[in-house]
Amino acid sequence: MTQTDPRLAEIADLIEFKAGGQYGLAAINQRQHALQAAWLAERMGCPESLIAAALLHDIGHMVHDLGDNPAEAGVDDQHEALGYEYLAGMFGPDVTEPVRLHVAAKRYLCAKEPDYFAKLSPDSVLSLSLQGGPMSPEEIAEFEAVPQYREAVQLRRFDEQAKVKGLETPPAAHFMQYVERSILPT
Ligand SMILES: [Fe+2]
Ligand SMILES: [Fe+2]
Repeated sequence: MTQTDPRLAEIADLIEFKAGGQYGLAAINQRQHALQAAWLAERMGCPESLIAAALLHDIGHMVHDLGDNPAEAGVDDQHEALGYEYLAGMFGPDVTEPVRLHVAAKRYLCAKEPDYFAKLSPDSVLSLSLQGGPMSPEEIAEFEAVPQYREAVQLRRFDEQAKVKGLETPPAAHFMQYVERSILPT
């Protein structure tokens, strides 16, 4: 590990120290959610960039200070945009676009797959309305024009599954190897 790269050290710190807050309405914290998402991507044999994206997809929650579940207070925290802004200077679009679009992907799936909405967890249903509800046909066309939209949809599916209380995963250090190999040279 090139732990001397301060960008990697900062990301590891966010996951270690800023991810102890509860994940929405689920009985797990942000760190467990990130690790479960990355582990799902790893076990699916996804590209390293998508495993890194899965680990980092909610990093916007860790760089803001809106509390653990702003959706409950009727606030869309736009964490996907905050996360994208944070990551954009460090990673290419194979990492940043799935992160930027992981909320849009929920709105996309709700429009494209009639049974998807029924599978959403209560906190996802709550935030969906704040985020604009299912996509319109125009929004669907715009979404599908993004080269990484399939990866964003895949990440969204991991996101929904990564809420299992008490599930043991490999530690953050295990997944940081994918982050290290995906980060752009300085
Ligand atoms: Fe998210
Ligand atoms: Fe998430």
